[in-house]
Amino acid sequence: MFVSEDLQVNAQGHLTIGGQDTVELAKQYGTPLYVMDEDLIRKHCRSFKQSMDKFYQGKGLVCYASKAFSCKAIYRVMQEEGLGVDVVSGGELYTAMQTGFDSSKICFHGNNKTTEELQMALDYQVGRIIVDNIYELHQLEQMCQEQGKTARIMFRIKPGVDAHTHNFIRTGQIDSKFGLSLETGEAMEAVKEALQCKSLHLCGLHCHIGSQILDTNGFEAAAEVMMQFIATIQKELHITIEELNLGGGFGICYTEQDDPIPYEQYMEAVSKVIHRCSEEYGVPQPFILIEPGRSIVAPAGITLYTVGGKKVIPNIRTYVSIDGGMCDNPRYILYQSAYDAIVANKADQPKDTKVTIAGKCCESGDLIGENMPLQACEPGDIIAVCATGAYNYSMSSNYNRLQKPAVVFVKDGTSRVVVKRETLEDLVRNDCE
Ligand code: LLP
Repeated sequence: MFVSEDLQVNAQGHLTIGGQDTVELAKQYGTPLYVMDEDLIRKHCRSFKQSMDKFYQGKGLVCYASKAFSCKAIYRVMQEEGLGVDVVSGGELYTAMQTGFDSSKICFHGNNKTTEELQMALDYQVGRIIVDNIYELHQLEQMCQEQGKTARIMFRIKPGVDAHTHNFIRTGQIDSKFGLSLETGEAMEAVKEALQCKSLHLCGLHCHIGSQILDTNGFEAAAEVMMQFIATIQKELHITIEELNLGGGFGICYTEQDDPIPYEQYMEAVSKVIHRCSEEYGVPQPFILIEPGRSIVAPAGITLYTVGGKKVIPNIRTYVSIDGGMCDNPRYILYQSAYDAIVANKADQPKDTKVTIAGKCCESGDLIGENMPLQACEPGDIIAVCATGAYNYSMSSNYNRLQKPAVVFVKDGTSRVVVKRETLEDLVRNDCE
């Protein structure tokens, strides 16, 4: 009935998440409100880990891509579940370290890490710095030499696989700001340079082919290309690349149009390619890392809003206004992303209207979606937008000086605030007199 099995309807006809009444949650904590089911997040972590055990004999590490949703509580959950994390800024790294996260399980990404960020990575001794370009390689080596430090690095490689086209583009230069190109020889040059860097240990290679990918083909193609490169390095430079990080990108169900495959099928497909390539090319099986973000948190989250005014424009459309919008969910205005919405206090009723859900910002494009099927609703009703656990809170803004909503975790029949709602004082905190 709903996009996630986590969402149900109770005897009052109210939508529930993780068994808890969303209308009650809206009353207790106010709206707009992000609600996330911690049990479901943990379940997703376990299913990724189990698939690594089952198909790759556990010789790998699942690192949660924390850009999807970052706050102290989520790093604690990941640490408890035995996952590593991918961080992409000094801010994410700092937040993780504030919780005492095991830094050896942190992958530090970014196509233009600042000197301060590289310094933080060295000071915290993160397990893997994913080096994006030669300039960064030299900068890192120099910093290490000057400070008598060492670092474990991986190179970000462009495998020339574009997961968002139906035909994989494997030839020619893929136009991307991330990583080093295979085709131009840039990647091989970087590997040779790294071998000259006395303070850096090149432990592996990394690639990431895209996001919200709904089949395994692109991942298999990327794994094959990366294994070929590992084999070329072994042959030409006589060194073994110990680790291969295949990034994230596993798709989820936003609306009934999406048909994602079970996560373990990705691991199964990729493991087969790696086992085959390892035999064919005579290279040892690398330690594997994967970086799921969206797939771990998106399906576990919803956003609750209160309905305000309604505007019926005859023969054109009906606008339903909510007390949030692009500030807490910029994915429609950015990507025209599709979402499923439900009137939480009328969840047992049929969706027999079509409405455009509008946010409260001074932007015509500030919408959650257009012509969305929805139960007939009135001012004061609660609307739940589904699958908002990823790239919503983490991409939220204070445009129009709106306050960021609170984030509530539900677990075992209880709820707790993990990020407080911003106050008006928070908004002026950094303004100088
Ligand atoms: N690893 C790397 C290096 C990445 O760049 C990303 C996402 C991930 C892992 C996690 O990918 P996921 O499993 O979450 O698909 N703001 C966009 C998504 C941007 C993804 C950027 N990189 C959105 O809202 O759809």
